[in-house]
Amino acid sequence: MSSYNVRFAPGAEPSASSTKPATPDYSIQNLAPPSMSGRKVGVLGSTPIKGRWSGISSVSSTSKVSSFMLNRLFTLPDEEDMQDLENDPRQVVLTEGKLPDRVKNVEYAVRGKVLYKSWEINKQLKDDPGSLPFTEVTRCNIGNPQAVGQTPITYIKKFASVLVDPSLLDDFPDRYPSDIADKARKVLSEFPKFGAYSESKGIKFFREVAAEWMTERDGYPTDPEDIIYTNGASMAIRTVLELLVDGYDTGILIPIPQYPLYTASLVRLGARPIGYYLQEEKNWGLSVSDLQEALEDARENGVKVMGLVVINPSNPTGTVLTRQEMEEIVRFCEKNRLVILADEVYQENIYSDEKPFISFRKVAADLNVSIEVFSFHSASKGIKGNCGFRGGMVHCMNLDNDVMAQLYKLFSLSLCANTVGQAIMAAQLTPPKPFDPSYAQYEKERSAIFDSLKRKAKLVSEKLNTVEGYSCQPVEGAMYAFPRFELPDKAIAAADEEGQKPDLFYCLRLLERTGVVAVPGSGFGQREGTYHYRLTILPEESKFEGMLDRIKAFHEDFIKEFS
Ligand SMILES: Cc1ncc(COP(=O)(O)O)c(C=O)c1O
Repeated sequence: MSSYNVRFAPGAEPSASSTKPATPDYSIQNLAPPSMSGRKVGVLGSTPIKGRWSGISSVSSTSKVSSFMLNRLFTLPDEEDMQDLENDPRQVVLTEGKLPDRVKNVEYAVRGKVLYKSWEINKQLKDDPGSLPFTEVTRCNIGNPQAVGQTPITYIKKFASVLVDPSLLDDFPDRYPSDIADKARKVLSEFPKFGAYSESKGIKFFREVAAEWMTERDGYPTDPEDIIYTNGASMAIRTVLELLVDGYDTGILIPIPQYPLYTASLVRLGARPIGYYLQEEKNWGLSVSDLQEALEDARENGVKVMGLVVINPSNPTGTVLTRQEMEEIVRFCEKNRLVILADEVYQENIYSDEKPFISFRKVAADLNVSIEVFSFHSASKGIKGNCGFRGGMVHCMNLDNDVMAQLYKLFSLSLCANTVGQAIMAAQLTPPKPFDPSYAQYEKERSAIFDSLKRKAKLVSEKLNTVEGYSCQPVEGAMYAFPRFELPDKAIAAADEEGQKPDLFYCLRLLERTGVVAVPGSGFGQREGTYHYRLTILPEESKFEGMLDRIKAFHEDFIKEFS
C-alpha cells in the first residue's frame, strides 16, 4: 500500500465538498447580512437560570434575570429546519449532522476511548476500592508531567508570580532571590501589567531573551522579530499550517507514527496529511527514499505538497535524529522546494549521550539553504512540564518579509499569546546561572527530574524487551516508549467482534486488568498489521518498575487467553 493512501483520518478522503469554489469576495462592503430569504425575525423570552455559584453570591442566581438580558434575536425556521425539528424534539439549532466534515472528521487519539474508560475505572476504585485487581489508575497516556506527580520548579513559579503581582517583591523581599527579583523588575519596567494584551508577537523583552538563547544554542545571530510567542506550540503549529495549505489539493508530509495534532489540524483546515513512514527496525529512523515515495505519490495524485513535518526528538517513538539524517532531510526539502516544520518541543529531553540535540535551524544554516524553516518550542515539555500555562513559540527562518507580515496578521487575530505563558516560556529559556542565588535550588530540582526521566527511559525498553512477543526501540529522547506487540488471531477476531481496532481492544484490556492507561498505536499511525501503544515514562519512579512488571504479567495472561 502506498503511504499516500494511508488512512490517517476519514477527513483525508476526497469529498464532493472539496472542490474549490471561485474565490469569494470578503471585502467589508460584501459582509452585510445576506437576505433573510423571507424569514421573519423573532424574539426569545426570559428564562430563569441556575448558576454554579448559587449559594455563594449574595444575590440569588435563580432569580429571574431581566428579560432584556436574555432576549435574543433568532431567525424563524424554514421548511428544512421544520423537518429537523420534527426529527429532533430537543429543538436545538445545531445537530451533529449539520457540522462541517472538516470538524467531524478530526480525531485526537491522546484523549480517546481508553482515557474515558480510565475515568470510569477511577470512579469504581473510589466507590468500591477492593473491586479491581489493582489499587490505582496509572496515567501513561499523556505527556503532562505535573498532572502525574512532577513537582513544579521553584524558580519558574516565583518568577511568574511576581510578574502577576509585583507587590510581592516589596511585601516579601526575603522570599525572592535577588536574581529572580532583578529579572522580574527588568521585565516589569518594559511591560508593567501582565493583565494587558502584549504585542501580537509577544513581549519584546521575551523575544529578545529567546533570540539570545537561540544565538547561543545554534551559533548564528537571531533576530527577535523572527520569533513569535504562542499559546503552547499547538497554536504555533496550527497557524503555520494554516499559512501553508489551501484546501484539499494541498498537503503536508507528516511522519507515521506522528503526534496526532498534525493530522487533526490538517483535516480541520480541509487539507491533506500525507504520511511518510518511519523505519521501526532502524530505531524509527527516517529514509529519504520513503520521503521521496510519499512525495511522488502525492504529486501524481494532484496534491501540491507545501512542507514536511519532522518531530525531533520524536513523539511517539522517543527517537533522536542523527546529524546525517537531518542533513538528508534538509537537502531533500531544498531539492523539492518544501518548507520544514521542525517540532522541537522535546529538545531538552535527551537521554542518549551519543545523540545530542541539534536544531534544524542550525543544520539548515550550516548547509546555507534558502528554504524556510519553522522551529517550534514549548513550555509544556522539557524538564519543567508547565503544560497548563500554555507557553510556546515559533522561530521563522528565511521567511520573506511579506509572508512574515501575513503570518503576523494570522497571529494578531488572537491579539496575543497569554502573557503568563510567555513569561514561563522565557524563564525556561533563561535558567539561573552558576553563582546566581537561585541556582543551587534550581539545579537540584532540575537534575532530580532529569536523572529520573533518564533512568526510566532506559528501564522501559529493557523491561518491555523481556516480554515475549514485544519489541521496544530504545527511548533516546522525549517522554514516550512505543512498543510493538504481537497479537494472536483469536484476539484480533475478538476485537473485530466488539467493533474495535485490535490495539484499542488490547489497551482497554490492559487498563481493566492493570490500571495502566496507554494510547493505542492506531491513533498515531502504524504500518498495517502491526500493533503498538504509546506509554509515557512520567509515572513516579518508585512505581514505574512495578508497573512494567504488571504489563508483562498481563501480556502473558492475554496470550494464554487468546491462544
Ligand atoms: C510533538 C509535540 N508537538 C507539540 C505539542 C504541543 O505542545 P503544547 O503543549 O506546547 O501545545 C506536543 C504535546 O504533547 C507534542 O508532543
